[in-house]
Amino acid sequence: NHKQVIDENSKDKQLEQFRVNNEGTKMTTNQALKVSNDEESLKAGIRGPTLMEDFHFREKLTHFDNERIPERVVHARGYAAHGFFELYESMKEFTKAGFLQEPGTKTPVFTRFSNVVGSKGSADTVRDVRGFAVKFYTEEGNYDLVGNNIPIFFIQDGIKFPDLVHAIQPEPHNEMPQAASAHDTFWDFVANNQESAHMVMWLMSDRAIPRSWRMMEGFGVHTFRFVNEQGKGRFVKFHWKPALGVHSLVWDEAQKISGKDPDFQRRDLWESIEHGNFAEYELGVQMIDEKDEFMFDFDVLDATKLWPEEIVPVKIFGKMTLNRNVDNVFAETEQVAFHPGNVVPGIDFTNDPLLQGRLFSYLDTQLIRLGGPNFTEIPINRAVCPFHNNQRNGYSRQRIDVGQVSYHKNSLADNTPSTSTAKEGGFVHYAEKVEGRIIQARSDSFKDFFSQARLFWNSMSPPEKQHITDAFIFEVGKVASKSVRQQVVDMFANVDEGLAIHIADGVGVNPPTGKQVNVKASSPALSQENTTRVPYT
Ligand code: HEM
Repeated sequence: NHKQVIDENSKDKQLEQFRVNNEGTKMTTNQALKVSNDEESLKAGIRGPTLMEDFHFREKLTHFDNERIPERVVHARGYAAHGFFELYESMKEFTKAGFLQEPGTKTPVFTRFSNVVGSKGSADTVRDVRGFAVKFYTEEGNYDLVGNNIPIFFIQDGIKFPDLVHAIQPEPHNEMPQAASAHDTFWDFVANNQESAHMVMWLMSDRAIPRSWRMMEGFGVHTFRFVNEQGKGRFVKFHWKPALGVHSLVWDEAQKISGKDPDFQRRDLWESIEHGNFAEYELGVQMIDEKDEFMFDFDVLDATKLWPEEIVPVKIFGKMTLNRNVDNVFAETEQVAFHPGNVVPGIDFTNDPLLQGRLFSYLDTQLIRLGGPNFTEIPINRAVCPFHNNQRNGYSRQRIDVGQVSYHKNSLADNTPSTSTAKEGGFVHYAEKVEGRIIQARSDSFKDFFSQARLFWNSMSPPEKQHITDAFIFEVGKVASKSVRQQVVDMFANVDEGLAIHIADGVGVNPPTGKQVNVKASSPALSQENTTRVPYT
């Protein structure tokens, strides 16, 4: 009989106390001293040197000098909006998450869309993966669903993330290019880390040039876990489905828009919301019962594989509406801190080794990006429910913790943890059974790099196949190293030989040799005889 006490306006109300409008106010220093001259610094005599004593001058310049904080190490270019999530039907059977119990429950959200690779000032419409990060301000604490607009990922293990990002970001010697995939190190990484094949197929497809953030899907990517009140767990994958459907640009449009309006996608979101055309997405999950964990030819812990929706349908259970633009991009969009580790009771992790890497990385980076351990007190990051613990001090601490006790266990204050009962709601990690030896390996299906990439290719219409081929030729064509171009052609022959031949033709290397590594026994035979150059009709 859960009744949520917060509503869709709870976050807005909380933020209200921090809003400051300087219209019609008298200027003061940060110490609230009234300023009489904001144009001339203090000088000794009419033509003399500026005086150190001019505290207003020093304060103004010092504050300006310190306006920058580090960009996010990835997903630096992004834009966000406020809104709410409304539950259509109770998910009680599957999860005890408070905000998913009573149909009609509204939970405030803050959603940030982003490009993975370019810097904060790069263009919106480049070919790239889009981030799709949602913070739900629930009454049980903040829940972050930090996803992308592509359902899978480049790598299978968090330990490879720095390698991926170093290869995909601008090259260190010349800081080029801002776009993800038109350069040597990216394709060298791909050819030598072939688990990326499936993701690269999506990246070369129209999915990587969405027409609008309002017209793209979002995916949690990893396998997470729903846990219900009885303690039963289920594997889940999260899906956002846009009300406007999925639409993409074509490459020529994307390039022209990059030049004419690098802010195209943020402008689209901002203006739609200003005009009352709110962005809407339904939320659903695919679910696999724990007893069926090994029923599939993919491992549910492998983030380079999706669960085909024909086999595991998406159950839609609610809708997010983004209906309010931010008041201040720095205060909100730039300072917001998402973290896949921010969960609520009823939503838990799995042993996906990529997810496990993320669970470490986000807090670690935010400590430096947002200047120390107190960034949860920044208004946009504050939970709407009260939070208390024995942590204390640190840079820019804003709370004034009143009381003598900041340790556990104690007898002087009654500040104990909660039990896991429904009434108290304390978070308890899922009691998954774990066995086996400590090793650095994964199940065999992790090594099947091409089956789903081929499935993706085969599901494309002729124009979509043409776009993918053109994208490969455009992007791989920018690679200076002939050896890397050849490796890419040889690798993608494992997906489709015709595709590889077209790429080879377009980027000036030999057709695939048929000597690829990592070809599964089930892959079609690769020989020069059965390669034909047919247009995609
Ligand atoms: C941002 C690490 C994989 C989605 C970030 C940030 C880091 C990071 C350090 C910057 C966070 C910040 O400064 O606040 C990693 C690592 C990964 C990984 C180590 C793999 C082990 C993924 C995957 C997804 C994803 C698979 C999608 C499911 C995002 C999004 C953001 C982000 C959407 C931007 C959040 C925002 O808008 O502020 N990631 N990431 N990342 N990551 Fe990941």
